[in-house]
Amino acid sequence: MSPAVTICKDGDDLAAHAADLIAQAAQAAIRARGRAMLALAGGSTPKKTYSALAQPACRIRIDWARTFLFLGDERFVPPDDPSSNFAMVRQTLLAPVSAPAGHAFPVPTQLRTAAAAAAAYAATLTEAFGIGDRGGPPRFDLILLGLGEDGHTASLFPGAASLSVTDRWVVASPPGTLPPPVERITLTFPVLNAARAIAFLVSGQNKAEALRDVLEGQPSREQRPAVWVRPEDGTLTWLVDEAAATGLTRSR
Ligand code: 6PG
Repeated sequence: MSPAVTICKDGDDLAAHAADLIAQAAQAAIRARGRAMLALAGGSTPKKTYSALAQPACRIRIDWARTFLFLGDERFVPPDDPSSNFAMVRQTLLAPVSAPAGHAFPVPTQLRTAAAAAAAYAATLTEAFGIGDRGGPPRFDLILLGLGEDGHTASLFPGAASLSVTDRWVVASPPGTLPPPVERITLTFPVLNAARAIAFLVSGQNKAEALRDVLEGQPSREQRPAVWVRPEDGTLTWLVDEAAATGLTRSR
């Protein structure tokens, strides 16, 4: 299934589209399976989306008592570090919506190593999804992803060993070339591509080259890892603003 690409006017318009998509995905999952399992993107782009989702008119569309929030990746920094993705999610979304305790799962970055944090998060997923150690990858109802200028997504960086992992759901990764220069913990491609729905949120002129390569070029997985996000039985949506879309040649 080819990806759906929506070009939004600007970052605020993108956030409004993304918040609506998230609310719809959560509602559909709860109707179908009684709960919504969502993996959130980190970085700066999603901040506006999470704030939009937390607005009264939007947050009432989600049954937070049946919604469970995870992270697609995390920086290996203390939980209260300014560069922590979970700290950003707590500030922009969890606190404003008063998410019920036990419904948001941070990566345990207080552990001694990134590898230990990755293993612990994999165990968290195994338990939350009720899959045995030998079960298939956890199947999220929706995974939100960003796109780095180098074409990375989550913390799957160009040329990294994590790109070829097929037997683990969460791995530790050395710092990429983009800031912050810290070790990362990331979901792997088997988990991303098992999702029922994936939505990329891409904003800014600085993403235009990578976005064109991924959507219209033929890069390898090693060059532009985001090109490898191809849900096996799910939808793929790109929400991009006009600034990021300047490199796209095909009309959409
Ligand atoms: C992270 C993210 C990462 C991010 C991209 C885009 O931990 O940094 O998960 O994959 O989505 O780097 O980041 P911006 O939205 O800040 O441009």
